[in-house]
Amino acid sequence: MALKSHSPGPAELIAGAKSFSSLRHAVQKCRGCDIWQRATQAVFGEGSENSEVMLVGEQPGNKEDLAGQPFVGPAGTLLDQALAEAGIRREKVYVTNVVKHFNSTQRGKLRIHKKPNSEEIGACHPWLEAEISRIRPKVIVCLGATAAKALIGRDFLVTRDRGRLIKSNLAPILTATIHPASILRTPDDNDRHAEMAQFVSDLRKIAAELPSSALISRPSHHSRAGAY
Ligand code: URA
Ligand code: SF4
Repeated sequence: MALKSHSPGPAELIAGAKSFSSLRHAVQKCRGCDIWQRATQAVFGEGSENSEVMLVGEQPGNKEDLAGQPFVGPAGTLLDQALAEAGIRREKVYVTNVVKHFNSTQRGKLRIHKKPNSEEIGACHPWLEAEISRIRPKVIVCLGATAAKALIGRDFLVTRDRGRLIKSNLAPILTATIHPASILRTPDDNDRHAEMAQFVSDLRKIAAELPSSALISRPSHHSRAGAY
């Protein structure tokens, strides 16, 4: 008799993962929803287990799917730039996504990003919960509506409520701003620059809540003046 095929889901895999690095391995075996079938690999969060800040996006994109790392494509480049402008040290930030596999539809040779539905988001949620409960960040920043909906709730509208600092049992500070990919999709140059400036301004507000170890130390005004 053939053995019944076993499709492990998040609950079982997470329960079996004793350390943080074993979680990262375990996610590759996840069959909690169907998205894995179209993806190259799962993309777990990246950063130190001791990070004080966690950024949460939607799902890996094409580049992330191939590289196995979150935010390494165009949206990630923009995110790096915005964090630097806001004075936040990128290497002190843990970056992850609501959904761990790249959800796509095939169009010719291209894989086109497809928003995960609420069932898939729900199925993947235990992985995000496991990251949050093991890292216990001081600040969680949702990037875009998918993450805000998953961690804050349906009543939070990113366009209206962005930058608001919310008390939550997930972290002392929970907040949301736009997704950097939405900046990239803004066609008009002036609008796009304004969007970027507002994104940086939201991140600066978050920077004000962080310990100095998470911030880029800038030369004092005095020493900078002396450098020119
Ligand atoms: N967009 C996301 O939401 N996450 C990534 O990792 C890359 C792009
Ligand atoms: Fe599991 Fe999430 Fe991948 Fe679905 S998207 S298979 S729940 S890791």
